[in-house]
Amino acid sequence: MEKRIKWGILGLGNIARKFAMDLSLVPGAELVAVASRNVEKAKDFAGSIPQNPQYQLGSYEELFENREVEVIYIATPHHAHKKWAIEAMKHGKHVLCEKPMGINKKEVAEMIDCAQKNNVFLMEGLWSRFNPALLKMKSVLDSGTIGEVKYIQADFAFNAMDRPLDSRVWNPDLAGGSLLDIGIYPIFLSYWLLGMPKDIKAVADFHPLGVDQQLSMIFHYEEAHATLHSAFTCESDMQAVIGGTTGCILIHPRWHETNGFTVITNDTPLVTEEATLGKGYTHEIEEVHHILNKREVQSPSWSWDNSLELVGLMDEIRGLIGLSYPFEKDD
Ligand SMILES: NC(=O)c1ccc[n+]([C@@H]2O[C@H](COP(=O)([O-])OP(=O)(O)OC[C@H]3O[C@@H](n4cnc5c(N)ncnc54)[C@H](OP(=O)(O)O)[C@@H]3O)[C@@H](O)[C@H]2O)c1
Repeated sequence: MEKRIKWGILGLGNIARKFAMDLSLVPGAELVAVASRNVEKAKDFAGSIPQNPQYQLGSYEELFENREVEVIYIATPHHAHKKWAIEAMKHGKHVLCEKPMGINKKEVAEMIDCAQKNNVFLMEGLWSRFNPALLKMKSVLDSGTIGEVKYIQADFAFNAMDRPLDSRVWNPDLAGGSLLDIGIYPIFLSYWLLGMPKDIKAVADFHPLGVDQQLSMIFHYEEAHATLHSAFTCESDMQAVIGGTTGCILIHPRWHETNGFTVITNDTPLVTEEATLGKGYTHEIEEVHHILNKREVQSPSWSWDNSLELVGLMDEIRGLIGLSYPFEKDD
């Protein structure tokens, strides 16, 4: 029988709550500790989720020192992923780190190096990679149903312009902006389906605080194009389109957390539905359990090299649009 896996959550914000709800749906997952920089917040958080975790901690350090916790889910803003993931791994904890794993390739490489040195599991929480409908869609593509893929169109956008100026999404010190927050998803889709492009074009508009608020990208492959977009400036229904030589696939909105897709060949639509369990974080959690139960340190489905290549693409896009974060100047 597979053993129960004891989780801790670090940074108790918006996504941590959704993740905790999904964790409660995964057999074998036990949430034993939640850690905030404020103990009252940790207690309130613990009281608002189904698991009633035993340890409600007022510092991240206490989480690292906790002897029961095996794997820590890092749910802080982007600028702090590397720091806390490395601290956790140095204490022998396995880590599932929210996307993006680090804010640039150098950070991700350091994190991987730390996982190797401490022989612990590390994975970026790129949850769409484990979405059951997207996996089924990929198998349809791989079977050649729509011929050769020539075009991908994918976006992630919503209007966040009314968010206050102290929101993490506008804060350059927290590595805010649309690229790392939501642009990562359409970039992931293109990378997952077509690999590394031979050339990238990108244009962006900037928020007065200095991060990208709207970004358009073209990935040019030997035999295909992808047009990708992320924005905090406008609404989108977030259907993704994959155009092949003999048909196309429409991934139902919101495509990154989809429950289905339509394949159109010979003008005939065929709908496939495949629901997520809970919100859908359950599937990346199941992957963590699967790999930990095999006593391995990385997932072959979303490997360290995948995270390195993905962040490398984002580094290149940042170079094209002239986006850097203040704390990178020390590098
Ligand atoms: N996978 C997804 O679907 C998804 C969706 C949304 C966001 N995300 C990712 O999840 C991460 C967190 O996003 P979020 O929307 O949950 O953010 P959030 O609501 O602002 O929560 C982040 C938490 O991080 C902690 N934190 C540590 N250092 C901080 C600092 N200097 N400033 C602010 N907070 C700090 C805080 O927790 P304490 O006060 O408890 O210490 C805070 O509540 C990001 O990497 C984001 O890209 C993923």
